[in-house]
Amino acid sequence: MNEMFKPEDALINLTEIREAEEDVGRNPSDNPTMGDIINRRFSRRSFLGGSLAVTAIASTVSPLALMIVDEARAEGMSAFSFTEVEAGVDETHHVAEGYDADVLMRWGDKVFADSPEFDPMNQTPESQARQFGYNNDYVGFVPLDDTGDHGLLVVNHEYTNAELMFPNWATIGKDGDGKDKVMMGEFTRDIVDIEMAAHGGTVIEIRKENGKWTPVLDGKMNRRIHVGTEMELTGPAAGHDRLKTNADPSGTKVFGTLNNCAGGVTPWGTWVMAEENFHGYFMGDLPEGHPEAANYKRYGAPAGWYNWGAHHDRFDVSKEPNEPNRFGWVVEVDPMDPNSVPKKRTALGRVKHEGAESVVNKDGRVVLYCGDDERFDYVYKFVTAGTYNPDDRAANMDLLDDGTLYVARFNDDGTLDWLPLVHGEGPLTAGNGFSSQADVVIEARRAGDLLGATKMDRPEDVQPNAMTGKVYCMLTNNTRRKEGDENAANPRAKNAFGHIIEISETDGDFASTKSTWEILLKCGDPSVAEVGASFSSATTTNGWFGMPDNCAIDADGRLWVSTDGNSAKKTGRADGLWAVDTEGEARATSKLFFRVPVGAEMCGPLFDPKGETVFLAVQHPGDEGLATYEQPATRWPDFRDDMPVRPAVVAVTRQGGGKIGMA
Ligand code: FEO
Ligand code: CA
Ligand code: CA
Repeated sequence: MNEMFKPEDALINLTEIREAEEDVGRNPSDNPTMGDIINRRFSRRSFLGGSLAVTAIASTVSPLALMIVDEARAEGMSAFSFTEVEAGVDETHHVAEGYDADVLMRWGDKVFADSPEFDPMNQTPESQARQFGYNNDYVGFVPLDDTGDHGLLVVNHEYTNAELMFPNWATIGKDGDGKDKVMMGEFTRDIVDIEMAAHGGTVIEIRKENGKWTPVLDGKMNRRIHVGTEMELTGPAAGHDRLKTNADPSGTKVFGTLNNCAGGVTPWGTWVMAEENFHGYFMGDLPEGHPEAANYKRYGAPAGWYNWGAHHDRFDVSKEPNEPNRFGWVVEVDPMDPNSVPKKRTALGRVKHEGAESVVNKDGRVVLYCGDDERFDYVYKFVTAGTYNPDDRAANMDLLDDGTLYVARFNDDGTLDWLPLVHGEGPLTAGNGFSSQADVVIEARRAGDLLGATKMDRPEDVQPNAMTGKVYCMLTNNTRRKEGDENAANPRAKNAFGHIIEISETDGDFASTKSTWEILLKCGDPSVAEVGASFSSATTTNGWFGMPDNCAIDADGRLWVSTDGNSAKKTGRADGLWAVDTEGEARATSKLFFRVPVGAEMCGPLFDPKGETVFLAVQHPGDEGLATYEQPATRWPDFRDDMPVRPAVVAVTRQGGGKIGMA
């Protein structure tokens, strides 16, 4: 246990406060919560164990994956092989025996050969704009050759913790009840501009030599994207009146991207950044009677987490009432061209996007899956109208502007309807305030309400598995679901630990509008009966977890899950990366592979194309208890008195080489 970290001090955690605010649940619709359904729950394993499941697998699975699946089934064994890490919390990270976890990029590290050295006592917006940003979340890899050892790492920088970033700034004071709390310093123009430069993303060339990854600082495609980066709005809402501002009367040009959480890399090698809690960046009051009031209420904007509007008018809705409509999109970036203008693809809808993972369907169309991370909000997928052309990258570059957005209704009989968000269809008409497809995508949540989508327990990353036709949906938690409001897909009231749903797209057709689903596992401590967790009995006391958040499928089609919200207080363990079996007798067995230092959440994860490296993003380390720059809960990863705690991406490889988690 780190001397600086005292669990009893963990009274106030700024990340928890933000999360509590961000997911208060703003869904006013009366879509069914079906309290009676819980009484009608049945084991859906037997239903899916028959010919449907076999057909779905056989139509899409690679021979290698089939072999792994078959072997696991035949042996009743896990598809993973490694010595499990012991669960717990301390000041540093831990990885399975026989593996190395090397820090690759830290907050403040150079992104360009001529970037200034990180000088935490003398930060400036200009230096931050040329250094690695804060709070790395999504990590993607775009290969630059066929070796698998050379490529572009793309990383989202979701948000900033000013209290941990700036020296002599935050202090410990008292709240209204006399309890100790972290008191923020003054959000000066400089502090705000450094925060804005620390958001966004990074493109950095990396190369593996002698088994170790290193950044290539003179890489020609290296790039920092931040809140000052010019972007274009494209698709059905582009140019609409509701997107026009004083600075942009065209409604097509916007600066920056906010709160980029999980994301994705498309089959044509572009990087998609999902804008999540955009509402937190806006302050002020809308003019009286403004027509966007109901729209913004559904999204919780403005929430005023940041003070940017004091220095930049566009973040004050009293001055620029339409600006919040220009965020909450999926942003596509071409990392191969450092001068390319990122595109906000409005066809994918405006929600608090988490993840944008894609798969090429068997008919060539591309399907992207997204969660809307809020209590009682929805799961979406987008199916492109055009088809992917593997021989002509340029032909794919605007595929995301044209297609159909669907929202999920998880029926209690184990079927799933993907409901199209198409203007003029069903209730999405002018009579309900949708005059065009632009209105539908701008108010995607309200469209989902009217269509009768299923209110979920905070959908996070949603990951298709191209090898099996399955899709994994992380539902992180929802303690505000009341008894009687359960539904089959969200079966626990006061769901503190979350669960994972497995969707089987019919016949392996990811564009299917009628699919099936079942719960892969319910999270939490399986030894406590009231928790109602459902890990397999082979799962050890180290192997269970709460709060699934990001996930990945590795080169062999296996599922890995990372978490956000475990702690000494909540689960007796830090967040981490868990290997989760999905096939055979070992199904729902989980094993701990890596755990983060105190205060952090585990983001990434991303496997290289060969399955020999997993890139992991350690986000907001040290953010536990009364943490400030001077008194973080850890000084990971440098452990130097003159260095702050720093979010960082680590590259995990096997000593002596070889695939991660294979015998
Ligand atoms: Fe940024 Fe839903 O986590
Ligand atoms: Ca997340
Ligand atoms: Ca993912």
